[in-house]
Amino acid sequence: MHAAQPALSYAPDGGAAVSDEALAALVEQVRAGREYAALAPDFVIGIAAVELAHRGPGKATTKAVRSRLHQMVGAYEAPPADAPARLAAASDEELPALAAQLRGRHASTREREAAAADFWSAVLADLPQPVSITDLACGLQPLSLPLVDLPRDVLYRAFDVHLGILATAEAFLQRWGQTHEVGSWDLLAGPPPGGHDLVLLLKTLPCLEQGRRGAGRALLAALEAQTVIVTYPLRSLGGRQVGMADHYRQQLAASVDGMPWRVEPLDLRGELGFRLRRA
Ligand SMILES: C[S@@+](CC[C@H](N)C(=O)[O-])C[C@H]1O[C@@H](n2cnc3c(N)ncnc32)[C@H](O)[C@@H]1O
Repeated sequence: MHAAQPALSYAPDGGAAVSDEALAALVEQVRAGREYAALAPDFVIGIAAVELAHRGPGKATTKAVRSRLHQMVGAYEAPPADAPARLAAASDEELPALAAQLRGRHASTREREAAAADFWSAVLADLPQPVSITDLACGLQPLSLPLVDLPRDVLYRAFDVHLGILATAEAFLQRWGQTHEVGSWDLLAGPPPGGHDLVLLLKTLPCLEQGRRGAGRALLAALEAQTVIVTYPLRSLGGRQVGMADHYRQQLAASVDGMPWRVEPLDLRGELGFRLRRA
């Protein structure tokens, strides 16, 4: 089942007016690169519109858009193109091992792998059985369901802007037999509408801040949910660790300041975790 984000209308604040032709040409140039062709077109258009308004057309703008997209998405690597077909063809016995192998192909789930089962226990502890789990900027986290005893009728909603990730998540959830909904959703434009039960926002707020300063706060203000699990990485992709926990603690405090969220620390191995509940 698919959820689709309505077409977005981009009105970048500041900068010059952007012509449709210049924007279309820029998006085509950006998406000509293999890494960028796998990104949801509306997401690329949004980032391109902002850079075009501030820099005007030219090679430097194409480079700036690609660099921003790489920081937000590309740096985490993509699942192999044949992943959906392999998942669809896997037997019941093969599926958990194949899912584990594929989780290793995305930096975020690879970092979590040593503690992946404990991760789910910590997330679900002290919560009633969720009716649905909404995994925002999901990466390959949906492929970790073999590590948790989640009834198959719990609705798992998975959103991202990388089309290869979405196809892989869809194929896995279908084969696993989980009730699910998978769709492309650019969180820079806000959360999927409606009330959510348990929301996962794992290692994603820093990516959104790279797309637009203040995007994390805007998302948390607009998100209608009972519980939100927010995590942050404790190492950069390059392996550096200096001061990240303090920095992200402060970033989250600023992001929810004045909002009706009660923030509790969540004890996770290898990432900094918080549980947000409606106050
Ligand atoms: C650091 S990874 C985290 C993946 C997953 N949540 C996890 O912890 O394993 C960031 C994810 O955010 C996605 N992403 C980046 N910008 C996004 C946006 N504006 N809207 C939705 N997803 C986005 C990327 O494609 C990538 O899968």
